[in-house]
Amino acid sequence: MEIKDLLKVFEEVYGKTDKKIRCFFSSGRVNLIGEHTDYNGGYVFPAALNVGTTILIRKRDDSKIRLYATDLKELVEADIENIDSYKSIKWGNYQLGVIKELMNSGYNVGGADMLFHDTVPHGAGLSSSAAIECATGIAIYSIFNEKPIDKVALSFICQRAENRFVGVNCGIMDQFASSLGKKDHAIFLNTRTMEYKYVPLKLGDYKIVVSNTNKKRSLASSKYNERREECEKGLKMLQKKLTISCLGELDRDTFEKYKNLIENETILKRVRHVVYENDRVLKSVEVLEKGNLVSFGKLMIDSHISLRDDYEVTGFELDTLFEEALEIDGVIGSRMTGAGFGGCTVSIVHKDAIDEFIKKVGENYYQKTSLKPDFYIFDIDDGAREIEI
Ligand code: GLA
Repeated sequence: MEIKDLLKVFEEVYGKTDKKIRCFFSSGRVNLIGEHTDYNGGYVFPAALNVGTTILIRKRDDSKIRLYATDLKELVEADIENIDSYKSIKWGNYQLGVIKELMNSGYNVGGADMLFHDTVPHGAGLSSSAAIECATGIAIYSIFNEKPIDKVALSFICQRAENRFVGVNCGIMDQFASSLGKKDHAIFLNTRTMEYKYVPLKLGDYKIVVSNTNKKRSLASSKYNERREECEKGLKMLQKKLTISCLGELDRDTFEKYKNLIENETILKRVRHVVYENDRVLKSVEVLEKGNLVSFGKLMIDSHISLRDDYEVTGFELDTLFEEALEIDGVIGSRMTGAGFGGCTVSIVHKDAIDEFIKKVGENYYQKTSLKPDFYIFDIDDGAREIEI
């Protein structure tokens, strides 16, 4: 839907007034490498997509927040004086959580009417929730505060909303990528120090193809929290001899030297994934800066194997997409992206092989899983921003 169509819907739902309507956007993301490292103080390498959440917003004179989404077609009404009482509503809690965290951080907020239009596929592990959060954050902040928003602060506000209001114990990667994304660049972020730099994605004749398993991710959040706990246990065991504050501080050599401190086989595998994945992110940035896409592709493949065998977050559907992708000539790398347990893979595919990729991977995946996959070729775009109307 174009902005003019959204404006029409907005006025149908909320009526006309003489107050200004403004438009904001924030993106979904794909993580290129560095999975399950962000809550361990490790490195990540995500990029913002040209799909996300668009919001039209208009100030109100009272303290009411009204939310309406083009796909749900349902009006949710809340009051910022009483925001905690809306915690368990089915749709709207992400937005209200962000508004609450904006208030907690001392920013001005007030009543507003908001229209949401989402283009990130839901439940695909492409951070549709971070897109909603960051778009809500920048929209509400911008209409009630003068200074432009600090985008790093925005990402933390949105992460806290998800942790505290929604109850998902996620790391910072998704909100950071949604908020700070940059066109044609990936973000190399150290989640321990929060230092980051943009790395240009020079893909030449290659494209990033995202393949959706379309598998329902019912256990995702409990398994996610379980992995977090396993990493914490591993850290505690290592801290008996090592002075480290997170697994992200551990390099490969130190891990190999001290790994016998971890007596539990499962925990050892989880820690090994985090340490080696971190190393792969560093190597990825190095090879990509030299334009060596083939080496990057190999690191992606190693990442998937580690997530499959050591971290155990892939599952039959993601593994099938991964294996089928590697059968296609012109694919130089593939791996699961996001939390796992379903969701999507990301593959680097030669532009001339894309049709064959979609056909063959699609057919073979369907044959093996009875699920129809979806394929997307996204552009890498800017993150949270105002769109002039
Ligand atoms: C989800 C979380 C992120 C990150 C990834 C795994 O997307 O929201 O914080 O932990 O999983 O890398």
